[in-house]
Amino acid sequence: MEPKQIPVGTKRLNVVDVGTGPVILLGHGFPLSHAMWKYQIDGLANRFRIVAADLPGFGASPASQTPISMRGLADTLAGLLDAMGVTEPVAYCGLSMGGYVGWQFWKHHRDRLSHLIACDTRAAGDTEQVKRARNISAQSVMKTGANPVADSMVQKLFHDSDSASKQTIVGEVHRIIAQTDPASIATGQLAMAERPDATPWLSEIEIPTLFVVGEFDEITTPEEMKGNADLVSGSRFIQIENAGHMAPLENHVQFNWELMKFLDA
Ligand code: MLT
Repeated sequence: MEPKQIPVGTKRLNVVDVGTGPVILLGHGFPLSHAMWKYQIDGLANRFRIVAADLPGFGASPASQTPISMRGLADTLAGLLDAMGVTEPVAYCGLSMGGYVGWQFWKHHRDRLSHLIACDTRAAGDTEQVKRARNISAQSVMKTGANPVADSMVQKLFHDSDSASKQTIVGEVHRIIAQTDPASIATGQLAMAERPDATPWLSEIEIPTLFVVGEFDEITTPEEMKGNADLVSGSRFIQIENAGHMAPLENHVQFNWELMKFLDA
């Protein structure tokens, strides 16, 4: 399925829109693109309408002319649904940075949500130490370019990134990161550093919510996600086997199964 370019206000988003049925809106991680959802696009479009957008500055979506924020990205995705004529509530599934956008989507557009899926993400904001590290990395990527970022990130994103069975997906994710404009990587880091702590919102979430995390995720650990899940009444918490932070790519069979089970329940 070829992505199409859809105008959303002053922005233009590169979007895959495939399948029929209840809508699943997918929000990718940092600094990735809709391509990280390739197994969900392929595997779920026979039951659902999958809408997978590249956020501004990532994949094939042009960068925003104004500074981005997690709130702004959520507003842009709501604008995308308007532009596509999607009026019914959708299931939002966001990974890591896409999850940060998901909390904002719930906070500011909750009537548009039927389900929330928080995937390898966290509700807490950054510590001062993490904010400082993001500032340093935003400066350094402008000097080094994206390739060194790709080299170091793939080691952290995947569990067992050197294993032969993961070489294809590790290579694909490396390529996505290496092709990202360094300015978008820097802007993304600074936007994530500014995001608010969404933890106080968790106890107010009343829609069906799934927390799903790779059992070996070292960036957003199962322990931290379980702690978040415990604050959302009636939520479900699932660990994906043999997976790190890229659970939807590393074990798509279990991931898609859990997602379908949750949405069918
Ligand atoms: C991601 O995968 O989106 C990043 O790990 C998020 C972050 O840097 O906090």
